[in-house]
Amino acid sequence: MSISITPSDRLFVLTGAGISAESGLPTFRASDGLWAGYNVEEICTPEALRRNPALVWDFYSKRRSDCAKVAPNPAHIALAELEAQLPGRFFLCTQNVDDLHERAGSKNLVHMHGELAKSRCERECGRPPVEDHAVYASLDQVGRCPCGGRLRPHIVFFGEIPLEMPRIEREIAASTLMLVVGTSGSVYPAANFVHWARQAGARTVYIGPEPPFNATAFTHIVEGKAGEVLPGLFHVES
Ligand code: APR
Repeated sequence: MSISITPSDRLFVLTGAGISAESGLPTFRASDGLWAGYNVEEICTPEALRRNPALVWDFYSKRRSDCAKVAPNPAHIALAELEAQLPGRFFLCTQNVDDLHERAGSKNLVHMHGELAKSRCERECGRPPVEDHAVYASLDQVGRCPCGGRLRPHIVFFGEIPLEMPRIEREIAASTLMLVVGTSGSVYPAANFVHWARQAGARTVYIGPEPPFNATAFTHIVEGKAGEVLPGLFHVES
């Protein structure tokens, strides 16, 4: 299969944990995924951070360590190459907190659920997130904000507001083609993006080994692993 991108197309891409699976990072809801070994309420909510910051930092420090050991796969690289062919009309929104898109060369992207490689003040004092790759062996090693607050992972926890939504909504409204890669469609508002794109009149393509929960909203479903089917899937018309 080949999907054409015409000179008037604007491409919006949404990725989920599945695009990093072939790099060796676990997804969330697979039987051996991240949520199989943990209770979300214990590590990925504001209450969890208040109740047991050591457990939260232990979880995210391990994910930082895992992320440092892996590399982008052909799917990440294919998206970076596609972006280079579509100057000014390519936008990437990822739900992932790893930096594999950046390491593959993607430039115009947002992390709507935050970033592993950043931390911010748990007091929400207003200072911006800081670059932080540290793998903390214990809570007393975790850095402090200049205001005195302890740092927290710059991750959007369940119950918190995703980042960059106004920009994401503008980009979806302007898109003519949406590509969604490797996300089960379990979490909102990301699972709604395909419906918003259809309302904007866009073609909508899903890539993954199994249909997502919002499969009926896609005009094309390309079943397969992203690293295998994404490279070469799109033909950019001159
Ligand atoms: N290529 C493409 N897709 C794949 C691959 C692969 N090689 N391997 C697995 N997948 C697909 C699975 O079929 C599944 O649909 O990736 C999807 C992963 O789904 P989830 O584990 O639910 O991850 P995701 O959809 O990214 O979760 C969304 O939930 O827990 C929160 O904040 C977290 O960002 C995350 C959000």
